[in-house]
Amino acid sequence: LVGLEGKVDKEPKTAAIILAGGQGERFGRDGGKQLVEIAGKPVLTWSAEAFDAVGDVGLIVVVCPKERQAEYLARAIDPFPFVTPVVMAPAGDIRQESAFSGLEYVDDRFEFVVLHDGARPLISPELIAHTISVLKGNVDADGAVVAHPSVDTLKVVENGVIMGTPDRTVFWNAQTPQVFRTGIYRRAHASALSDGFVGTDDASLIERLGGKVLVVEGKRDNIKLTVPEDYLMLAAAVHTMLRER
Ligand code: CTP
Ligand code: MG
Repeated sequence: LVGLEGKVDKEPKTAAIILAGGQGERFGRDGGKQLVEIAGKPVLTWSAEAFDAVGDVGLIVVVCPKERQAEYLARAIDPFPFVTPVVMAPAGDIRQESAFSGLEYVDDRFEFVVLHDGARPLISPELIAHTISVLKGNVDADGAVVAHPSVDTLKVVENGVIMGTPDRTVFWNAQTPQVFRTGIYRRAHASALSDGFVGTDDASLIERLGGKVLVVEGKRDNIKLTVPEDYLMLAAAVHTMLRER
C-alpha cells in the first residue's frame, strides 16, 4: 500500500469509480476495449489494481454495461486478488450518466470520490495517492485533477482558417484520476442533471457551481486507449514498467 493511511488500521475515506461503460467504438473491436489484454491482464484490471494498492481507497465501483457485468467480473476482477471491496454499477448512455450511476454505490462513509477512465491502464498508485493527498491538504479546494501542460502550439480555427494563436501556457490537458469532495460532487451531478448540462469531464460539473478544482501535474503517457494505434504504445509502456520493477 502506498501513501496515506493503510486500509488495515484506519478507515479509508475515498471511494474509487472506474468508468468502463463505453462501447469502445473508435477502438472498433467486438467486445470493446476494457477486456483486451496487455501483458496477460485486461486493460480494466491494470487500473483497478492501481486503486486497490492505494491505502485510502476503501471501495472500488466498476461501471460497465449492465448486460456484461458477469463477464467483466469473471474476466477482469474475480481472477485477481483484490484487497478492496469491488462492486459493479450499470453504465449509462453517456460518460456523465455512468459516473452518476457509479456515485449511487458510494455511501456516506466516503468523504472523497476519485473518478478514473478504465481505459487508462498506466495510472500508478503513487499518482492516485498524491492526487488525493493534494485535495486533502487544501481545505478550501473541492477537487484535484491530474493534467499536463499543453505541449503543442494551439490554434483557434474556424472553417479551416486560423483565427489566432492563444497563449499556450494557460492550457492544460485534463486526464483522470479526478478526485472530489463527495458532497459537492453529488450536488454538481444533481445540478447538471436538472439543468441538462453535459460536461466532457467531472471537474467541469464542479467548475460550473463555482467550485475550486486544483490541477496535479501528471505525465503525458497516462494515455487513454481510444484508437487501435494506442494499443502498441500502451503495451510498450506496460512492458517497460514491468522491466523497471
Ligand atoms: N464510459 C462510460 N460510459 C459511457 C461512455 C464512456 O463509462 N456511456 C467510459 C469508457 O468506458 C472509458 C471512459 O469513459 O473508460 C472514457 O471514454 P472513451 O474513451 O470515449 O471510451 P468509449 O466511450 O468506450 O469509446 P468510444 O467513444 O470510442 O465509443
Ligand atoms: Mg466515448
